[in-house]
Amino acid sequence: MPLDVLITGANRGLGLELTKRFLEKGAIVHVITRSEDDRIEALIEEYPDFIFDYNADVTDELQVSQALEDLRGRTDKIDILVNNAAVHLDPERIPIEEVDFSAYLRAFDVNSVSPLRVVKHALPLIRSGRRKTIVNISSEAGSLSECWRKSEYSYCMTKAALNMAGKILQNALLDDGIKVLNIHPGWFSSDMGTAEAPITPEQASIPIIETILKDYPLDGPIYVDAEGIPRSW
Ligand SMILES: NC(=O)c1ccc[n+]([C@@H]2O[C@H](COP(=O)([O-])OP(=O)(O)OC[C@H]3O[C@@H](n4cnc5c(N)ncnc54)[C@H](OP(=O)(O)O)[C@@H]3O)[C@@H](O)[C@H]2O)c1
Repeated sequence: MPLDVLITGANRGLGLELTKRFLEKGAIVHVITRSEDDRIEALIEEYPDFIFDYNADVTDELQVSQALEDLRGRTDKIDILVNNAAVHLDPERIPIEEVDFSAYLRAFDVNSVSPLRVVKHALPLIRSGRRKTIVNISSEAGSLSECWRKSEYSYCMTKAALNMAGKILQNALLDDGIKVLNIHPGWFSSDMGTAEAPITPEQASIPIIETILKDYPLDGPIYVDAEGIPRSW
């Protein structure tokens, strides 16, 4: 039976590439997208029986719950959930004296709260899955011990909060046999990563897929890099 995978923010960037890699592995990929985009449309045309698009803004609980309700009409399990959707709303290198905080709560909602919102509604299906894996796409920017930045407060704070969410989820879901991974994907080119990044989102997606598909002890590392090597919180 093919794997059922759910990926948020799959219309562009890393989410789109992870969708392609899972399709190449024969999985059925359910994608939550907020905006229309020719790239995901082309993929749906290419794999009409293997990819299903549920339109939702991950900050809107009604839309997320409706998306999962629609998904339940197609499958009774989710093997792997990938919480990928995120925003980076900080202008770079802005000193604290000039920070505009108006977008901070929105960044927190998308990057830290929404992954939990999706888990809340997807959990019954994840419990029925064979792989029982929840992946939160995190960032090295969420590490406290390795923090080097002097700006980008909201992005870093929201990814640190996502790391805490992943840790608590793992504590809570251990007895259900569900593994949680918070993966730093590396720096790759995208609208968020900019064209200066050293690798493409396609290159970033390749080791991430292998890392997601490995078997891990439930009490093993949670915060890892694209190759599955543990990172320091
Ligand atoms: N790029 C990097 O170098 C890098 C480095 C470390 C970590 N990451 C992480 O990797 C992941 C993917 O990043 P990326 O570079 O591929 O980003 P991206 O190209 O900016 O794409 C972000 C995705 O998130 C979606 N999204 C944002 N807000 C949403 C919302 N409210 N509801 C639903 N979808 C929403 C976007 O959809 P719309 O088209 O509708 O906006 C888009 O599909 C993120 O978690 C990011 O933090 C990236």
